[in-house]
Amino acid sequence: MKIFMDTADVGEIREAVSMGMVDGVTTNPSLIAKTGKPFNQVIEEICGIVDGPISAEAVSPDAEGMLKEARELSGIHKNVVVKIPMTTEGLKAVKICSAEGIKTNVTLVFQSLQGLLAAKAGAGYVSPFIGRLDDICQEGMDMVGDLLAMLRNYNYPTEVIVASIRHSIHVVQSALLGAHVVTLPFKVLDRLVNHPLTDSGIEKFLADYKKIPKP
Ligand code: E4P
Repeated sequence: MKIFMDTADVGEIREAVSMGMVDGVTTNPSLIAKTGKPFNQVIEEICGIVDGPISAEAVSPDAEGMLKEARELSGIHKNVVVKIPMTTEGLKAVKICSAEGIKTNVTLVFQSLQGLLAAKAGAGYVSPFIGRLDDICQEGMDMVGDLLAMLRNYNYPTEVIVASIRHSIHVVQSALLGAHVVTLPFKVLDRLVNHPLTDSGIEKFLADYKKIPKP
């Protein structure tokens, strides 16, 4: 399973890269707004740190506007993947992007069939948002299982990025379902790495090491 970082904070991305954990990055306008820096500058910086797919989101409401943005964003760096929202206009834009060789990540997917349609339009990635479904008392992970089964049934090359991940159990479930990618906020990655029994084990070994007589 590939791990993407779901952040636009280059400090967090560098830290995760130094741990050997980053296969790609997903951003969205909310994450980029938090940095206080211009949109394209953030994407360029991230592309300079991670040699993998970097998602940057188009915000136009219509296919024509999305296409214009997609052509501009994909010109920033060869690794840029254009995030397109799952709408009628979005599907039109994905179809043309696919024909032009621009890789897309269809975002804001909340229903398995939306993901299937995005794959049919030619999306390279689809992003089911599971945490936001859990937030409204719907089991987000059910959608991921259904979507993966549908894509496998018809041999679509589209990869599923499990997004809107809130905690470690989401990551365990994604791996058990065979999701292609999880995109993680830095705090979730940190929780996956650390365990209190590891910390207390290290403390005990260090305390005992100090008792060993020096030659
Ligand atoms: C994914 O591409 C999105 O940026 C992200 O996972 C959204 O997560 P949120 O629901 O925590 O905002």
